[in-house]
Amino acid sequence: MAIFFQEKEKVFTLHTRHSTWQMQVSPYGHLLHLYYGRRVEKTSMSYLVRGINRGFSGSPYAAFGEDRGYSLDTYPQEYSTFGVGDYRTGCLQLEHSDGSQAAELVYVSHRILSGKYSLPGLPALWAEPGGDGAAGPEGSKKAGSDSVQTLEIVLRDTALPIEVRLYYGVFEEYDAITRSCRITNRGGDGVYLNQALSMCLDFLREDLDLVSFYGRHTMERMVERRRISHGRQVVESRRGSSSHQQNPFVILCASEANEEYGECFGAALVYSGSFLASAELDPINQIRFTMGIHPDGFRWRLEPGESFTAPEVVCSFSASGFGVLSQNYHRLYQKHLIRSKYKDVQRPVLLNHWEAMEFSFQEEDLVSLAASAKDLGIQLFVMDDGWFGERNQDTSGLGDWQVNREKLPSGIGGLSRRIHGLGLQFGIWIEPEMVNEDSNLYRTHPEWCLRAPGRLPNVERGQLVLDMGRPEVRDYLFRQIGAVLDEGEINYVKWDMNRSLSDVWSGILPRERQGEASHRYVLGVYELMERFTSTYPDILWESCSGGGGRFDAGILYYMPQIWCSDNTDAVERLQIQYGTSFGYPVSAMGSHVSACPNLQTGRRTPMETRALIAMSGTFGYELDVRKLGEKEQEQIREQIREFQRFYPLIHHGDYYRLTDAVKDSVFTAWEFAAPDASEALICVVTLRARSNAPQIRLRVKGLKENGIYQINEEAAHYQGSALMYGGILLPALPGDYQSIAFWVRQVTEKDR
Ligand code: DGJ
Repeated sequence: MAIFFQEKEKVFTLHTRHSTWQMQVSPYGHLLHLYYGRRVEKTSMSYLVRGINRGFSGSPYAAFGEDRGYSLDTYPQEYSTFGVGDYRTGCLQLEHSDGSQAAELVYVSHRILSGKYSLPGLPALWAEPGGDGAAGPEGSKKAGSDSVQTLEIVLRDTALPIEVRLYYGVFEEYDAITRSCRITNRGGDGVYLNQALSMCLDFLREDLDLVSFYGRHTMERMVERRRISHGRQVVESRRGSSSHQQNPFVILCASEANEEYGECFGAALVYSGSFLASAELDPINQIRFTMGIHPDGFRWRLEPGESFTAPEVVCSFSASGFGVLSQNYHRLYQKHLIRSKYKDVQRPVLLNHWEAMEFSFQEEDLVSLAASAKDLGIQLFVMDDGWFGERNQDTSGLGDWQVNREKLPSGIGGLSRRIHGLGLQFGIWIEPEMVNEDSNLYRTHPEWCLRAPGRLPNVERGQLVLDMGRPEVRDYLFRQIGAVLDEGEINYVKWDMNRSLSDVWSGILPRERQGEASHRYVLGVYELMERFTSTYPDILWESCSGGGGRFDAGILYYMPQIWCSDNTDAVERLQIQYGTSFGYPVSAMGSHVSACPNLQTGRRTPMETRALIAMSGTFGYELDVRKLGEKEQEQIREQIREFQRFYPLIHHGDYYRLTDAVKDSVFTAWEFAAPDASEALICVVTLRARSNAPQIRLRVKGLKENGIYQINEEAAHYQGSALMYGGILLPALPGDYQSIAFWVRQVTEKDR
């Protein structure tokens, strides 16, 4: 049991292994937040909440007179509302039929259920049916005996028939608590939701930092940490997608927190559209955190009887720093978010043609590249952009999902047979959500785009955004792209998305519903992803958005991996993959070895280093391997063997960041350790060579203190505690960007 309700005090307690979340129904019916943090046993934390009569912080009518210290402006809330005297960030802002905007929510009832709630049309963590109840997704694998429970709390407005159901999913083993809510109009008049965030979390403390992951195209998820100060600090995207610029995953942490120590609270929005995360220090030094769909441009109409469901937020807690927090998310996503069969099946090493040839190729070029790839041990050949319609540059052809016979005379079926004939799997690239103005689709259906009437649209890559909220658009895409998937034997699909949304206006929505277009776009994308991935479950689906512009938990529900960045420079990838690892598992990070000098930066790095970094991801190649000399080709053969040997450790082991890839300027190191501590792989890349350099002793993690270990088959044996607390001696590596890996393996009695 993880969820408890004490009837007398009206206190809800949610326990995970190391954390406790508590809330209480106040004497006036409001649902107050009491506590979230380290696990506390058998205690009501209500003593922490005391009202002080403060000027300009009024009381609800029911409390006035008897309890002037009771104010929604100062009391911690579980789901804050706008317009009734809480001047901090409100989750819910309504607009009733009379134009009033207030909502004051009070407790009605609750239910405690075994298993995990699900959200109609939205991605969310799931749990298997069986011991714990709720229905898991069709065809998904058993997730083991993880215990999962749901708490549903029903609230209603004090004046108008608006109902809010709060959902909590408790994943005890992962120290995770999910949140979502459903708002229903139970009245006879339509209302608008001008803001409907997913969650609010009020901390009765002031000493927290906000860690966020900002970036840009080709440099995503750079770690940024700042003190939460008075006022609001926001992390947001208004781009219609989760974006390169900010990621919908943040951490609030104690100021002393680091990789190994300190309290950390993670919050990940399982959503791929515009989002807002806000951390606000109020004037009496309490912190309010809120997260959900970005309210800018959002306005959702609820007719009588209609409901709106807010996307899920996955919260997790660690009292032992960022390392454990990240591992919580990694394990949780692998077990309870990703559904693809490839979460458990070893993924093939691929070669993607993009950086080798971009749009300029003929069928024979692809076949000859694939033949060389096969010779090196590559298992999957991916034909990227350029194979359909008049797609000879990025300004034409998008939307016309028929093969370009001038480039590929054998068609998709013929090419797929040729690639399979070489002994390789075959994959293709698509970008379903977009259309070039220069395309047959646009010429036939210009009205299918999101486009503000009477205005020239903002263009990027000569492409416009299809209105994915339109069922006929999704049907067209499913038919056209489905025909391609049926024609060839396709084993892999890369689903790209190459611009931000702008001019958002949908031709099928009336004026009063235009504020729904952006969210309906995301719901439409999810619906289409669901249709494709459930119809073609054997395909390995990789998501992409100009690299990592839509790297979020929502996408991982449909696709097990996401192209991490269009930046394939190994050294820059160290920072990108480092930042990404805080919230996402290595098995989700699309990562390839590319040519030197690197296309994006012009930098030269050794082949071994490029491979070691790409191996800390899905691993593949993206270069013209035909141009490589015999030595490099042999290196590739060896790298593939290495990756396959270490695959279980890399994709299913515990991931540790051993250095700060942004701040540490001498070298970067990270590690994969087997959950049973029987082995570990430690990866090191030097950033700059130094003369007469100080000796580096790198302390490894995740071993058994009393275990005896061997390093890279050397004769010497070491105690686990020695390697963890004394370290491994790094040899001097001459030159910049050199790399080395240490395989630390526990030796048995027999080996000694
Ligand atoms: C952007 C992607 O991130 C690249 O990998 C490549 O697929 C191009 N699009 C193709 O247009």
